[in-house]
Amino acid sequence: MNRIIIAIDGYSSCGKSTMAKEIANQLNYVYIDTGAMYRAITLYALRNDLVSDNHFDREQLINSLTKMHVSFSCSSDLNRSETYLNSENIEQEIRGIEVSNHVSKIAQVKEVRAKLVQIQRQLGKGKGLVMDGRDIGSVVFPNAELKIFMTADYRIRAQRRFDELQAKGDVISFDEVLNNIISRDNDDTSRSENPLIQSEDAVVIDNSEITKDEQLKLALQLADDRIRQ
Ligand code: DC
Repeated sequence: MNRIIIAIDGYSSCGKSTMAKEIANQLNYVYIDTGAMYRAITLYALRNDLVSDNHFDREQLINSLTKMHVSFSCSSDLNRSETYLNSENIEQEIRGIEVSNHVSKIAQVKEVRAKLVQIQRQLGKGKGLVMDGRDIGSVVFPNAELKIFMTADYRIRAQRRFDELQAKGDVISFDEVLNNIISRDNDDTSRSENPLIQSEDAVVIDNSEITKDEQLKLALQLADDRIRQ
């Protein structure tokens, strides 16, 4: 059967990764979360004092890129892929608000994007891949057989993210989550390097008013159509 590349782009906290993982599971494809790669570089920058609220050593970050090895490995007991930075499992740490608050600055750096896009293309060589991010359909795989652009009302996205963080025990206010989403949407769409754009040939899914199951069914139908072409 035809193996395809499925590119899923969209705004922060739209449920892209949840849906991408589920599609990959059902089709027995590889799933790659490119946001995790930008988060991994951000964690390195935070730990090495290259970035903080009022300082960013862009030059030093660029010089240090060769020291950062970002990879994914499947955890057999959890049956899911987790993110590694130089052989350390950083899956939990990169999901916190500190990394979220600084990742946009890191994602604007041309050299960071060039490094990660190269790795992402390498990962897609064998096809049979679902990749989610902001520039997958526009830059990483402009010829992807299926491009999905996900969106939802920003307040609904903030509420979902807030509920998730609370369930994990994070102490955070709704307003902090909302402001982080508004500011990342703004950074993602306005940066000069590979901004978030809706490719002309992408299918738009607005999940403000539909359930996860309805959304998955729709995406799997789209994938099935492309696989049969
Ligand atoms: O998908 P996410 O929220 O985990 O992504 C974290 C950040 O990384 C997000 O604010 C934008 C950036 N990002 C990007 O610029 N390009 C990608 N392909 C994926 C994520």
